[in-house]
Amino acid sequence: MKNPDFDVYHLTEEHELLRASVRDLCDDKIAPRAAEIDETGEFPWDVYEALKSAELHATHVPEEYGGVGADALATVIVIEEVARACASSSLIPAVNKLGTVPLLISASEELKQTYLRPLAEGTGMFSYALSEPEAGSDAAAMRSRAVKDGDEWVLNGVKRWITNAGISEYYTVMAVTDPDEGANGISAFVVEKSDPGFTFGAPEKKLGIKGSPTRELYFDDVRLPGNRIIGEPGTGFKTALATLDHTRVTIAAQALGIAQGALDYAVAYAKERKQFGKAIAEFQGLQFMLADMAMQIEAARSLTYRAAAASERSDADLTLISAAAKCYASDIAMAVTTDAVQVLGGYGYTKDYPVERMMRDAKITQIYEGTNQIQRMVIARNLLRR
Ligand code: CAA
Repeated sequence: MKNPDFDVYHLTEEHELLRASVRDLCDDKIAPRAAEIDETGEFPWDVYEALKSAELHATHVPEEYGGVGADALATVIVIEEVARACASSSLIPAVNKLGTVPLLISASEELKQTYLRPLAEGTGMFSYALSEPEAGSDAAAMRSRAVKDGDEWVLNGVKRWITNAGISEYYTVMAVTDPDEGANGISAFVVEKSDPGFTFGAPEKKLGIKGSPTRELYFDDVRLPGNRIIGEPGTGFKTALATLDHTRVTIAAQALGIAQGALDYAVAYAKERKQFGKAIAEFQGLQFMLADMAMQIEAARSLTYRAAAASERSDADLTLISAAAKCYASDIAMAVTTDAVQVLGGYGYTKDYPVERMMRDAKITQIYEGTNQIQRMVIARNLLRR
């Protein structure tokens, strides 16, 4: 979002060093916890503390707001490496970015200073609240309503599928402020967890990403000071979609990391596991499967890094390329993790091995930040408009 000369085809030494240091941290503190996080379904505060100590919990926050100011590719590398160890944990840097890109794109300087600093300092995480029970893919059909009352806004409504709900201190919430204007009558606000009238639903019981709570948000006459609006009234939906253009890249990174974790495990297993008197890795049928998995991952990585560069430069084709990266990387994550389970056979189908968790975690990447059907629609709309 800042560097017009950003070149993805040459990863800098800093990017490589960053990857190595994140991988060390993950091997040491995150991978050993991944199965337990999945089993208990509890948010991993120890992982949050470890990421925070290494300044990896919200890498995208610019230096002028107290952050480390990592570029979009560096943030992708962090998310990819954390997801390789534990998909739930990778939602810490990913959702902190999702919740705050609306501020970076559209908020007043005052709002940025107020809310990006605590995020960078590690005293409050951010979530992003767009979806509602009746407004999923059709996000503009939302019903949450914010009405102006003097200098304040009064917010009522329900949001659903909100990642890291309850553990985040701050929420970027989209609500209708002018019902006659459709998508151009939606505005974005910052809501604090402590705002009176703001409560949470029970955590959803999910297939995967169990260490990241997903809950409903309830707003019952929540009074917001006038300066909590992000940008001008009526610009909230465009801000929300422009945000997704940047953050679909981070979901691609998460999917890529999950797939890489599954391939690495499958390769190591295939070299150890013996059948018919030799390692199963010596059978061509297995070799072809592993080769296909590696090919898909490398293609997804190239597309994801290319999308990260487009995000960093805010390229004209960002909407198309970020949708393509999210869609492709998540589809291959599902295919690769399914094949990794196959490589492990019966063992792969049990919780004694990590690939079944990876397969369950991969599934969500085809669904959230817009289903892959929506991504294809976005890509087609962009193609046909040219
Ligand atoms: N950036 C900025 N503005 C954009 C835009 C973009 N990428 N795309 C469209 N717009 C503008 C349009 O120009 C239009 O403005 P005008 O009327 O002034 O021209 C306005 O926004 C409305 O656009 P559309 O008419 O195209 O809107 P639509 O109602 O047809 O819907 C959609 C578009 C692509 C389907 C969109 O609703 C969408 O992306 N849906 C999926 C929702 C989604 O991704 N949800 C994810 C929730 S977050 C999540 O999952 C997080 C998590 O848990 C981790």
